[in-house]
Amino acid sequence: MSEDTPISVTMEKDGEVAVIIVNNPPVNALSWHVRQGLEDNFGAALADDSVKAIVLRCAGATFIAGADISEFGKPPRGPDFNAVLGSIEAASKPVVAAIHGTALGGGLETALVCHYRIAVPSAKLGVPEVKLGLLPGAGGTQRLPRVVGVEAAATMTSTGDPLPAAKAKELGLVDELAGEDSLAADAIAFARAKIADGPRPTREREVFGDVGVIEQLKARNAKRWRGFEAPYANLACVEAATRLPFDEGLAFEREQFMKLMFGSQSAAQRHIFFAERQAAKIDGLPKDTALRDVKKVGVIGAGTMGGGISMNFLQKGIPVTIVEMAEDALDRGVGVIRKNYDASAAKGRFKPEQVDQMMGILTPSLSLDDLADCDLIIEAVYENMDVKKDIFGKLDKIAKPGAILASNTSYLDVDEIATATNRPGDVLGMHFFSPANVMKLLEVVRGEKTAPDALATAMAIGKKIGKVAVVAGVCDGFIGNRMLKPRQMEAMKLLLEGATPAQVDKVHVEFGMPMGPFQMSDLAGVDIGWHRDPNRIESIRDALAAEGRWGQKKQAGFYDYDDKRNPSESPRVAEIIEEFRAKAGVEKREITDQEVIERTLYPMVNEGALILSEGKAQRASDIDVVWIYGYGWPVYRGGPMFWAGLEGTDKIVAALEKHGFEIAPLLKEKAEAKSGF
Ligand code: 3HC
Repeated sequence: MSEDTPISVTMEKDGEVAVIIVNNPPVNALSWHVRQGLEDNFGAALADDSVKAIVLRCAGATFIAGADISEFGKPPRGPDFNAVLGSIEAASKPVVAAIHGTALGGGLETALVCHYRIAVPSAKLGVPEVKLGLLPGAGGTQRLPRVVGVEAAATMTSTGDPLPAAKAKELGLVDELAGEDSLAADAIAFARAKIADGPRPTREREVFGDVGVIEQLKARNAKRWRGFEAPYANLACVEAATRLPFDEGLAFEREQFMKLMFGSQSAAQRHIFFAERQAAKIDGLPKDTALRDVKKVGVIGAGTMGGGISMNFLQKGIPVTIVEMAEDALDRGVGVIRKNYDASAAKGRFKPEQVDQMMGILTPSLSLDDLADCDLIIEAVYENMDVKKDIFGKLDKIAKPGAILASNTSYLDVDEIATATNRPGDVLGMHFFSPANVMKLLEVVRGEKTAPDALATAMAIGKKIGKVAVVAGVCDGFIGNRMLKPRQMEAMKLLLEGATPAQVDKVHVEFGMPMGPFQMSDLAGVDIGWHRDPNRIESIRDALAAEGRWGQKKQAGFYDYDDKRNPSESPRVAEIIEEFRAKAGVEKREITDQEVIERTLYPMVNEGALILSEGKAQRASDIDVVWIYGYGWPVYRGGPMFWAGLEGTDKIVAALEKHGFEIAPLLKEKAEAKSGF
């Protein structure tokens, strides 16, 4: 050990039991010095004749939560992880893993080379590598089927979902449950009891179970795994365990792991892991900024958005007062919330009494005055500046001092809304995405005068209700919708030049988006934002709207729909496009799929670069988080700004120039440096 090696692993003795303790906050990740410490301390315990059994446990909040992801892609340092694990498994004395918190990834693989496992009831055990585009690369895919069988191993590795300790015990992954508060002592007693049994190396156990479950899992998850490499690689490794001797299986796993590790999907997914955590940080704001207390929330508007927003808080036990202008609209809104909860209860997501509890803390009201005791008030009425200013002016007189006044606007100027009050420091945007109780993204819009603690509180409450919150600056459409605009505009132009809605949408779906621009329009409503004058037809969209082709809700939009909402290409839409093409004097030509990418996705990167240089997003990775969680950008492509780096910013600029776009200076800079964002 060199002098600059941090001491993150220590050893204590309790009679003939050695207790090796990992202490590497915050999550005891397997950083190089932990691997070094494990090698050194296991070496010492094995060399000590007075030691008859070994316990491995962790200090702090959790057992080892995995490899140190921040080391990935960097030059290797410290001992090889597999070699360290191999020597623990080969120990001549029984080794017991004592698990609390989360034993994840490399952490569970470490527990799997221990001969026995004891865990507290609240512990969780899993191999979430697939969520990082990886697979357990330290024997997990080979040892798990020997401990829990093929079915559980295949499910655990390919979904990445952890198991609670009780389930792990049922499957044999945990041998014994400890007392919640007595793990250290219980583990020592358990180890002492195992001295007579001796070591039980996992590698020597037989794989069991039916390999057929692997194909069933693939069939069941085909939609969810579309485009992803890692779930299939995980399953290939578990399958290999059923037919290869242990060492060959390990070599196969290694090969698959390296392929994923150096591929772009895992790089993208690891980027998003850190991006999501980074998004919670507010530049220039001390981490310890005191938050405002939010015990009661007011929501104005009981429509789809207001109802969905309210559900988030009710589910976390935070009382909500919901205000509408008319009795029937209020009743309808509250009825929809109840119906949604009942439907979830029918699927087993909530118990009926939980639904009653949630509905019990919802107070419907017809008066803004009833919001006087709310700590956070979210306005979710339709997008009209005058209406919003009127409401905020009234709230200014009603809301208690220090209450946060938020607008759920998706593009309006939050600074202007704030001028309707005498407390612009308390005003900000909280832009939820539809359906608001499901979509994870929350754009928190920081106005010019928004107070730092109001902003920090909105971000924290976002996290509390399970959202991924991102700070956005005031501009038309903030981060997400602002980038959507050039994409939609180009998609429309492509129709005029010769593409069909189906072609443009297909390119987007093949790219990995849940739907393309025209499918999205039909779902959201072609009439949204329409001027409503059927005689004023200036665009293809106007023509569709004038004919009542408002999208799925009318069974006609850019596509025709049958009774089950199955789309088919529409001859009428083809005619409308043809008419516009003739009027515009545009000649129809073949549009390649590559051109669709260059003209609909590259402009988003360009807009993202503008957003960044204007300071409307704090960092490029925040833009990625917005697109992953708000619009379903495929996580294996890491968001538009990360993807720009994969694609090559120089290639993007060249194509945008070819198509006549004005290039954002920041994008140009990146292209000249041949770098990503
Ligand atoms: N490596 C490096 N840093 C990690 C890390 C890891 N495996 N896991 C968490 N961190 C960091 C986070 O980035 C965060 O840093 P920050 O405070 O600077 O933002 C800090 O630890 C705390 O993390 P969270 O905010 O996520 O804390 P929570 O308490 O909410 O969650 C957790 C804890 C459940 C352990 C969660 O962090 C998690 O899921 N971590 C990833 C677990 C994982 O994927 N393990 C597998 C790694 S790959 C592997 O093991 C390969 C092997 O097979 C060879």
